[in-house]
Amino acid sequence: MSPERTPTVAAPTAEHHREAMGIGEPSPRISWKTTAPAGWTQHGYQLEATRTDGTRRTDWVTSQDSVLVPWPTAPLASRESCEIRVRVRGSDLTVSAWSPPLRIETGLSEPTDWTAHAISPQDPERAAARRPPLLRKEFAVVGAEVERARLYVTAHGLYEIEINGRRVGDHALAPGWTSYHHRLRYQTHDVTDHLRTGANAIGAWLADGWYRGRLGFDGGHADLYGDRLALLAQLEIVHRDGSVTVIGTDTSWRAGRGPILSSGLLDGETYDAREELPGWSSPGFDDGGWSPVTLVARDPATLVAPTGPPVRCTEETEPVLVTALDGDRLLVDFGQNLVGRVRITVSGPAGHTVVIRHAEVLQNGELCVRPLRDAVSTDRYTLRGGGPETWEPRFTLHGFRYAEITGWRGGDPGRDIVARVHHTDMARTGWFACSHAQVNRLHENVVWSLRGNFVDLPTDCPQRDERLGWTGDIQIFAPTAAFLYDCHGMLASWLRDVAVEQHDDGTVPWYVPQIPGGEQWTPARPGAGWGDVVALTPWDLYRASGDAGLLAAQYDSARRWVDLVTELADESGLWSRGYQLGDWLDPFAPPHDPGAGRTDRHLIATAYYAWSARHVAWTAGVLGREDEQRRYERLADRVRRAFVDAYVLPDGTMSSDTQTACAIALQFDLLPDAEARATAGRRLADLVAAGGHTIQTGFIGTPLVTPALSATGHDDTAYSLLLQQECPSWLYALRHDATTVWERWDSMLPDGTVNPGEMTSFNHYALGAVAQWLHNTVAGLTAGAPGYRDVVFRPRPGGGITWASATHESPYGRVAIRWELRDSRLTVETTVPTGATGRIEWPDGSVTDLPTGTSTHSRPAACRPAGDHADTSATQRSLA
Ligand code: BGC
Repeated sequence: MSPERTPTVAAPTAEHHREAMGIGEPSPRISWKTTAPAGWTQHGYQLEATRTDGTRRTDWVTSQDSVLVPWPTAPLASRESCEIRVRVRGSDLTVSAWSPPLRIETGLSEPTDWTAHAISPQDPERAAARRPPLLRKEFAVVGAEVERARLYVTAHGLYEIEINGRRVGDHALAPGWTSYHHRLRYQTHDVTDHLRTGANAIGAWLADGWYRGRLGFDGGHADLYGDRLALLAQLEIVHRDGSVTVIGTDTSWRAGRGPILSSGLLDGETYDAREELPGWSSPGFDDGGWSPVTLVARDPATLVAPTGPPVRCTEETEPVLVTALDGDRLLVDFGQNLVGRVRITVSGPAGHTVVIRHAEVLQNGELCVRPLRDAVSTDRYTLRGGGPETWEPRFTLHGFRYAEITGWRGGDPGRDIVARVHHTDMARTGWFACSHAQVNRLHENVVWSLRGNFVDLPTDCPQRDERLGWTGDIQIFAPTAAFLYDCHGMLASWLRDVAVEQHDDGTVPWYVPQIPGGEQWTPARPGAGWGDVVALTPWDLYRASGDAGLLAAQYDSARRWVDLVTELADESGLWSRGYQLGDWLDPFAPPHDPGAGRTDRHLIATAYYAWSARHVAWTAGVLGREDEQRRYERLADRVRRAFVDAYVLPDGTMSSDTQTACAIALQFDLLPDAEARATAGRRLADLVAAGGHTIQTGFIGTPLVTPALSATGHDDTAYSLLLQQECPSWLYALRHDATTVWERWDSMLPDGTVNPGEMTSFNHYALGAVAQWLHNTVAGLTAGAPGYRDVVFRPRPGGGITWASATHESPYGRVAIRWELRDSRLTVETTVPTGATGRIEWPDGSVTDLPTGTSTHSRPAACRPAGDHADTSATQRSLA
């Protein structure tokens, strides 16, 4: 075997974990990526697991699989660590070297592993002005040397832990927001280096967060999960002689008052540095004045390990412009609408207070906070005096581009004021670029809106008094998100919450976790496009990741939804009654009634019903449930027929003569034949042209219009829509310096004033779903099979764009395309990873099968034939 033909294998991964520390899966599935010469194919693999009781290799497994293969040995026990390596053998009998190892460690897998009890400060502490408490305990490390130490920790509320004066980990807003009554996440930290022989101390900051802080609109609600903050921590110290010391939260801990005077996710944080207690989390601190704690109930059976990464600071950014305003105020422009918080370094007299307010936009040179509604988003820092003091709030986040700082006492604002960007720290997996600078900026804005709204759960917006896990928004955006970031672990957790909060009758809440939302939203009612998240999003994630396990986990939830809609539908199969949001925020809907778009709400509802039924059938097929597959196929067919009978007129146009109606019929594969598709495509193109290539669609229609145009041979019209600059359009926002995607097409009105509507977010990802069309049609990169095991490159140049590229870090490795129009030729460079197959489908209909690796191909830049291009349509989406 010659060395250049030998494949190499990168360190494997377990499930969707970025860091496999403290995981909850006893038998995690393993994936790896191989780099091998073109033509090499895997014929088998061998896994090696090194566990405490020795190293074992599996027999060679004859398989071409390398994504989420079954765990090779006995399930991992609680707290067990293990190293996994893999090597692969080709059909040419070449064998790779062993991959670098992946270290996996499980958390506390059994409820009985928890010996600690949740503790809460006693009464007087908990009520007093909601001042976030501190908890502490001293302990001794004695006996044999410490081999390793782990901290398993969670809270009712938010927490940060310190051991011997040093912060543990870098997670923000831990333990995150789950459906707390059912599932509370805990985190596992390696704290071996924090400990020392002899006296030690552990301390915790607690704050209200989602558990008992004010959440929600119309004034919001506090104490949604309880009125007591609590900490549950279990520090396990394993000594070299095998003995174990456990320091758990119990009644020996003490509670005190910290320097945070108040903290709220919506309201911001108030901190008085004069109230700091130096040394409080180190041994030797006098906590004589502190109070006892009491035990509070927490069922350990509800504690779950994370399936995705934590929220972290992922980037710091300096101001691009600082302007002095009257009254001791600075106006700071960070140049980017982001989610995070401001860190300041100031010097001044003790007792001086610096106030930081946040906003996404300005009006008349001042912060415009009206769009925040009841979110106060104000941080206050009172100086201790005596030197430069650096501060950043701990338990809040804001959505902002601008900050107004009153009472600034820092040095150079460009150095001493920093915005720290926070979100779930997912790995970036997708990139796009093209020759059109504004399209690139639009794409960049989509990425920023994703970052700002993937904060432990997928939210609608990050700035106003909402920030909720709206089901419709992520249903629309999930395919785009799954291209750009590895969001599978995070969304898998959230989908569990959706399933546990799904009502007994199958109703899916409008947002999850569900909190009171006034009579429009609670109790929840079944709503098309929103509730369908349970059937569509697992499938979208499966398409991106190849993870059929997620389909299995969510199948019941999906099925229950479709069964509910079946009960709600009329005899013919139409979902023709009940409350619906329709094509939410259709620009033609009156501002006070965003659901009153021009497309019949029940046409949309029935289309979603058919589409979800189809997805349940596909899902049942993947899961090998053949009877159910047939049953839901029949249902989907029946609803499709009802849809056509009710909403498609004899001349092939739709009863609602709108872009959304045409696009949904095309993209949800509801039309009976190619002729009907062609008619709908033509009508759609005509409607787009008649609308002057401005947007005429809302949340539901917008993501479907460009793919539907492309699927029916109207790329030119799709490009005209993309490149439109007048309002409403994607690029219109750029004329108003948008750096994120807006909720409304005209969140900023053409005259530069902020839309007076109730809902005027400048950071909503839903309408950014057009980015997936940029990826799969403008650049031309699509998954032909789940997990990109087959890749289809289908570039469709247009709109005067002379080159475009997309790259995706797929489960098999890097997939990439870059095309260029030069000298009347279309030249395409593609990369297909080992383990995947790929082909180019040229605009003229011809096909080039691709080798793995990078290769370049070229064709005359001919006109494409007219007709149905079924490319980004339902058929493509459905390939299982
Ligand atoms: C949210 C959404 C959501 C919608 C539901 C809004 O307030 O911000 O994006 O989907 O309500 O109608």
